[in-house]
Amino acid sequence: MNTRRMWRGTAAVAVAVAMLGAVRMWRAGPAAGQPPKIAVYKRETCGCCNKWIDHVRAAGFRVSVKTKRDLVDINDRYGITAALVSCHTAVVEGYAIEGHVPADVIQRLLRERPDLVGIAVPGMPEGSPGMEGPVREHYNVIAFDRRGDLRVYDSR
Ligand code: CU
Ligand code: CU
Repeated sequence: MNTRRMWRGTAAVAVAVAMLGAVRMWRAGPAAGQPPKIAVYKRETCGCCNKWIDHVRAAGFRVSVKTKRDLVDINDRYGITAALVSCHTAVVEGYAIEGHVPADVIQRLLRERPDLVGIAVPGMPEGSPGMEGPVREHYNVIAFDRRGDLRVYDSR
């Protein structure tokens, strides 16, 4: 091996190590005290979506809203299947948040940082944040990973 090739190898390792560090910092999230940013993808006409946005805003999240004709692309990107789908999809620090997930469960996710694609409250259970009414349905928050495995992450 000549020296130039050796140097190149060393440089490649250095770049890899730097990238790993960057990924680790990204996984650790923003600086403490900074409220997390959440992007919400919804349809123009969705009223309960707006109520859920108010709920996460009240919990301290910095919310940006993106109105779309349909959510097929974003659902495909995050592997949100018929078993998980709801009325809107949000993205926070790399995690997908599908449907009327309570803000405190999102905060738990950001604390624990499990190896997941995201969490979902499938459908639109009555009594979930943004779906308030006289009935309080029991519902689960489902965790999903990139293999498509589902498990119960929280219950309300
Ligand atoms: Cu809804
Ligand atoms: Cu919604």
